[in-house]
Amino acid sequence: MKIKSFKIENIGKFSDLEINFSKNDHIDNHIVIIGNNGSGKTTILESIALSLSWFVAKVKSAKSSGTAIQELKVKNDSPSGNIQIVVNNYDKDFSWTLAKAKRGRKNGTRTNLDGLNKLVDIYRTNYTNNDFTSFPVLTYYDANRGVLDIPLRIRTKHNFEQLDGYHNSLKGIVDYRTFFEWFRQREDEENEDKIKLLDSFKTKNVADSKILAQVNKVADKQLDCVRKAISTFLPEFSNIRVERKPRLHLAVNKNGKKLNLEQLSQGEKLTMAMVGDIARRLSIQYPSLTNPLNGEGIILIDEAELHMHPKWQRKLVKRLNETFPKCQFIYSTHSPLLISDFKDVKCYSLNDELLIPVNQLYGLDVNQVLLEAMDTNIRNVEVQAIVDDFRDSISSKNINKANQLLKNLNEHLPENHIEMIKSRLLIKKLHIANEKNQ
Ligand SMILES: Nc1ncnc2c1ncn2[C@@H]1O[C@H](COP(=O)(O)OP(=O)(O)OP(=O)(O)O)[C@@H](O)[C@H]1O
Ligand SMILES: [Mg+2]
Repeated sequence: MKIKSFKIENIGKFSDLEINFSKNDHIDNHIVIIGNNGSGKTTILESIALSLSWFVAKVKSAKSSGTAIQELKVKNDSPSGNIQIVVNNYDKDFSWTLAKAKRGRKNGTRTNLDGLNKLVDIYRTNYTNNDFTSFPVLTYYDANRGVLDIPLRIRTKHNFEQLDGYHNSLKGIVDYRTFFEWFRQREDEENEDKIKLLDSFKTKNVADSKILAQVNKVADKQLDCVRKAISTFLPEFSNIRVERKPRLHLAVNKNGKKLNLEQLSQGEKLTMAMVGDIARRLSIQYPSLTNPLNGEGIILIDEAELHMHPKWQRKLVKRLNETFPKCQFIYSTHSPLLISDFKDVKCYSLNDELLIPVNQLYGLDVNQVLLEAMDTNIRNVEVQAIVDDFRDSISSKNINKANQLLKNLNEHLPENHIEMIKSRLLIKKLHIANEKNQ
């Protein structure tokens, strides 16, 4: 399942905004939305999550409802607002509209769930006939996802069937608690399988080394999927596991050294939890795939660079694409690094309620992205004005003025700053040229 297009009318700050993610039958897999604070990025992601919540609700039970549009979200001064989505699934388009009128007002557009009901019916019929039916992963990670609920005790025993993969999936959080409980339960089952296999060798005359090799091969398919995703995304991490002493915790090896997951940095913890969360849901929702990481999904990530070092920001989109090749990702970001390091990124800039496609940014350096896509000066305006005047005086061969401006620049920048070094070289060149001409 992929989103093909999306439209909101009178929601948040938008009167009428439409986004089309498809061109010539190709639907983009990585869509990045940039824009100033308050330009409406979160409004778009939240509205998509809200639309998708209706699929999740109805696939569980045809009479259920998803999240309703809150009155507060309807544009001020408008009596009503609506959200329309078109998804492509099984090579067909399905669309549905959600509308909300303020108290006592009439709706301009009606809620229409015909397309959704048709789509949901296909899934429910398939699931009725086949226990191993797959369901697309649909998740939303909001900008407050940084607070992870680390459980000290295991409280719930889970029955993880396909639809349980949707638990808490569009609430904006990284569901670390369920991840932990699920991981422990699956690992217990994996260990039981190992013991059973060991027992079966008891009466047979097999060399210990052969037995060990066989036992080590026993791996829970779902856990394997999470382990694989984490080490594809973060190659320095391996062997995520539950340890029982001194008390129950998740452990992982970082460059070969064992760490409690709680000891990781905020960025490491959050990234691992998010990648683990997507992989866990795929493994539950794609029971018949040999490699569930090839399952489909729609993943919404607000402020995708949250807590990430620039090095990781640069790799984020590329690594997510490698780890989850069939998922569609929609990100919002303030980071120029996120949008310049992967070719198949479609970037849109939000400006005055308009969503403007941004030209190919692949391979541009950060300064160019800041200047061209984010409309931001690469340095302080005052310093930039001196640098510009300095360059002008060099061009007009006015060495006295250039010297004066260099002094001014030095009040703002240290001697070893690249701009100072460049400027001194330019003055030196001008001196040499002047001497030659005399
Ligand atoms: N009901 C409403 N009617 C009109 N304008 C609204 C309404 N609700 C929110 N807004 C406007 O929308 C803006 C919030 O948009 P949103 O949170 O989507 O921005 P953002 O691009 O995610 O910003 P940031 O980068 O700071 O997270 C606010 O600045 C507010 O002015
Ligand atoms: Mg926001």
